[in-house]
Amino acid sequence: MESYQRLLLNNKAWVQDKLNLHRDFFERSAADQRPEFLWIGCSDSRVPAEEITGAEPGELFVHRNIANLVIHTDFNVLSVIQFATQVLKVKHIIVCGHYGCGGIKTAMTRRDLGLINKWLRHIKDVYHSNQLELGSISDDQMRYKRLVELNVVEQVNHLAQISIVQRSWRTENQPTLHGWVYDIHTGLLKSLVQIKPGTISDNIYRYDFEDLP
Ligand code: CO
Repeated sequence: MESYQRLLLNNKAWVQDKLNLHRDFFERSAADQRPEFLWIGCSDSRVPAEEITGAEPGELFVHRNIANLVIHTDFNVLSVIQFATQVLKVKHIIVCGHYGCGGIKTAMTRRDLGLINKWLRHIKDVYHSNQLELGSISDDQMRYKRLVELNVVEQVNHLAQISIVQRSWRTENQPTLHGWVYDIHTGLLKSLVQIKPGTISDNIYRYDFEDLP
């Protein structure tokens, strides 16, 4: 059997499991989605959003890219954020990084990988703006882990700086922003930062909305 065929077989077994628990599982889930959470995670195969959080279909709206970056010119992530806040009206946005992240590790090297240099450049910028702290960590592994954490915090700050998020803060008083890190050695999630609606640390990133009272 080809490896991909296992996935199709597993799918049949999964459908049966769900139907055994709830005969109408798919009819109910097909009707609508009302997820409370937008999950922005790494594409890494070892960090499956639903599995590590015990979430069921319909609970997480998910966006994943290399090293869980929130870049203010990336139409992909911005479209996801706009739909999640304006249409789905999610209560929470979670940025989840992970120790052992290949994107973070590569960004710490001088390797030239072509196109992906442009993506990883954003992580080099996080390193650059935290080089005092990172430079004081002599252990390579510890410095790598700390950059994983600092990158999550930076991406959560980016969320707070996006006008779409600030507009939702004004109209809905949500979402709350969270930065988490997943430890691939223990399977545990750890919260690093939480930003409540309306909290903008630097006024240069604050937007006024003339159409809102
Ligand atoms: Co990763």
